[in-house]
Amino acid sequence: MDDIKKVTHIDNVRLSDDGKSVIIIDQTKLPTELEYIYLKTPEDIFEAIFQLKIRGAPAIGICAGYGIYVLALQIEATDYDGFFAEFHRLKEYLNSSRPTAVNLSWALNRMEGIVTANSDKPIPEILALLEKECKAIHEEDIQMCRAISEYGLSLLKDGDGVLTHCNAGPLATSRYGTGQGPFLLGREKGMNFKVFADETRPLLQGARLTSFELQRAGVDVTLICDNMASIVMKNGWVQACMVGCDRVAANGDAANKIGTSGVAILAKHYGIPFYVLGPTSTIDMNCPTGDDIKIEERDPNEIKTKWYEKPMALDEVKCYNPAFDVTDNSLITAIITEKGICRAPYTESLAALFKD
Ligand code: MRU
Repeated sequence: MDDIKKVTHIDNVRLSDDGKSVIIIDQTKLPTELEYIYLKTPEDIFEAIFQLKIRGAPAIGICAGYGIYVLALQIEATDYDGFFAEFHRLKEYLNSSRPTAVNLSWALNRMEGIVTANSDKPIPEILALLEKECKAIHEEDIQMCRAISEYGLSLLKDGDGVLTHCNAGPLATSRYGTGQGPFLLGREKGMNFKVFADETRPLLQGARLTSFELQRAGVDVTLICDNMASIVMKNGWVQACMVGCDRVAANGDAANKIGTSGVAILAKHYGIPFYVLGPTSTIDMNCPTGDDIKIEERDPNEIKTKWYEKPMALDEVKCYNPAFDVTDNSLITAIITEKGICRAPYTESLAALFKD
């Protein structure tokens, strides 16, 4: 039980006590080193997000919220117009660090909304409101993850085998996480699931982060390579798939880590329910379908050299390295949010979440 508390109480991102830096766990060092780093400059924050030192859609949003507050404190302008112009420039810069996870722009827009709604107030007062807002974004995520985990848990039976892809646990979010939240919460309640964690090529979030978190929490986790998902399903070892999401379109198409759509296609073939778990901050009602989601493409060396002592392909070999793919809504059994469980037709069930 002690171990569970540790994993679900990790502060993967927070504001420093003096409020002048964002402190994050450098996730690129896990699972072998637990190193906290301080982000103070625009470049520190941009690079931490771009290089995946902090990653996972909700955690990126929380980091950006704290980050823009830390940068706002450094703005030297004395009048509102000068302050807003610099705030907006910094916001756009941070927003360009990663394109797919909507939580980044969602959190930054929320912070900018505080500035524009209070243009009549003195700058120190605006800064105090910004501090309150970035802390609220974090606090709300903690509550949302807990609620999502409860709803997700209601879909599982004690002893079930569950397959997950990438990392949507405490490191990617706050406390319990989303896609892995039901396993952690279930364990805390004395339930035992058999979790299969895809290693998640090419950046190995499943191996480095998910299996680390679940193992530490005392969950029965088995690490598999991505191309082993079919055999564990065929063997009858998987009763459900649960994954996180980076942007859900208004029609329920869901972008998540590359390889997720393949898992969903396999799940359909074997008649296994496929669940997407995420907060409403990851649902983009301004994005009609998955075709409208911009997919991040990353450095080919993440495939060829990053994890190896020697290159695994000739330097001149072409590589295609999309970081995300989109799972068609027809493959998704349900989308689990903090407000409840949505089922098809998603255009209706997702819209209902935003009614009031
Ligand atoms: O590139 P990453 O590691 O940021 O991708 C993360 C994922 O795809 C997660 O599954 C998603 O952000 C959900 S996190 C709750």
